[in-house]
Amino acid sequence: MKRTLRMLAAVLMGLTFAGTAGAQGAAAPQTQKAPPDYSAFPCLSYTQPCGKVATRPPVSKALDGPLNGNAEKGKQLAQARNRGNCLACHVIPGGSQPGTRGLDLSHFGSSGRSDAEAYAMVWDMRTINPETLMPPFGTNEILNEQELRDVVAYLLSFR
Ligand code: HEC
Repeated sequence: MKRTLRMLAAVLMGLTFAGTAGAQGAAAPQTQKAPPDYSAFPCLSYTQPCGKVATRPPVSKALDGPLNGNAEKGKQLAQARNRGNCLACHVIPGGSQPGTRGLDLSHFGSSGRSDAEAYAMVWDMRTINPETLMPPFGTNEILNEQELRDVVAYLLSFR
């Protein structure tokens, strides 16, 4: 008798479970979905070694020669979450899920900034505002020289 009751309970639990799963959607996946690839996620840790690399002091860098940036490449870099990730803080044309902590850059190309001024800002915004939240893309080598020029060419293309 006890055994039958236990079996009955097990069957009822199974039914309840099936009922809940059904309520969540008719085509509940049978196999587990593979987790997304987080390898490009920044570390942002205060305790792990990857988060203990000190930020370099501010560096002013003047643009050397003509900008020669490729705006199309700059677009990829600016929007890539594991590279420029400008969208974390800025609205940029065509970018999804922008943050709003930085300025809306949608019309940056019409703001009257020269190539050299825009370059200096992206190289290290701390030289303009020491309190800025914007990462120093040049000083910290988040972007290399050509990548930075590409991003600046992209920024200046916004009208
Ligand atoms: C963590 C947030 C953050 C990220 C990421 C970020 N910025 Fe900024 N940015 C700011 C803030 C905040 C400002 C406002 C200026 C200040 O801090 O004084 C700013 C200002 C700027 C300005 C000056 C705008 C103006 O009209 O004065 C430019 C240009 C700019 N950012 C470009 C970029 C680019 C390009 C990227 C990506 C490669 C980027 N930012 C990534 C926070 C960010």
